[in-house]
Amino acid sequence: MSIKTAVVNGVATIEIARPEKKNALTQAMYEAMAHALGQAQADGSVRAVLIAGQPGIFTSGNDIEDFMQRPPQDIDSPVFRFMQALVGCDKPVVAAVTGAAIGIGTTLLLHCDFVYVSDEARLAMPFVSLGLVPEFASSLLVPELMGARRAAEKLLLGDPFTPEHAVECGIANAVLPAAEVVNHARRVAERFNALPPGAVRDSKRLIHGPRRERIMQVIAEEATVFGQRLRSPEAMEAFQAFFQKRQPDFSQFS
Ligand code: COA
Repeated sequence: MSIKTAVVNGVATIEIARPEKKNALTQAMYEAMAHALGQAQADGSVRAVLIAGQPGIFTSGNDIEDFMQRPPQDIDSPVFRFMQALVGCDKPVVAAVTGAAIGIGTTLLLHCDFVYVSDEARLAMPFVSLGLVPEFASSLLVPELMGARRAAEKLLLGDPFTPEHAVECGIANAVLPAAEVVNHARRVAERFNALPPGAVRDSKRLIHGPRRERIMQVIAEEATVFGQRLRSPEAMEAFQAFFQKRQPDFSQFS
């Protein structure tokens, strides 16, 4: 199974494990992650959630073949259910970014409470170069975090960020040596075993509550455009170029 889950010492771990495809996420994997988040939310023994990838790769984002064959149809699709569960999770979510985090791999970090990045990680949101648009409130949260100018570099040009830059921009808490990032993130998650869960839950609701409605509204607005873009000739050219291992040619478009 490409998503491994376990509950150990109060921490529900969701491990993305499809290294042969650089942890690209399929609908089935989003479904499994949405289910795991739902279970973590419902299980009183779970005090925090840890999301991790594999050595050298967090996730290369949405599986591009899946995008072409089964584009998400509506806000009831697995990717939306996963992201809704993440945005709405009232237990702390810690991400261990074990390597490259591309596309939704970076977007989902915007909705985690703690983000630790490996010194080998690279983050990027190359939506425009795929003929797509920012998703899951990144069009709102990225400019808020780093200002419009730097957000333009990340969201319009798709420039990657170094781990240090991710910390400087406020997306990540700290950079760790690659071999230590998961253990460090787990130790942070385990600290919630010693804290009162009701106070943690209420605090998380207070921190995020007023923003959730706006965030969900932006997610819905982005989804409409994203869905149209997924079927666009520009996106088709970008996806085909990826699989043909060549540079896309957008010169035919106006
Ligand atoms: N969707 C589908 N397949 C993917 C994928 C994705 N997002 N990312 C990687 N893969 C596949 C490759 O097609 C390749 O498959 P193959 O062995 O059958 O040819 C395999 O995973 C290994 O990827 P490869 O590109 O050879 O690895 P790399 O180490 O050279 O590069 C990445 C790693 C992550 C930099 C690169 O794979 C990449 O840029 N992926 C696409 C990222 C992206 O644009 N994501 C946004 C989606 S919205």
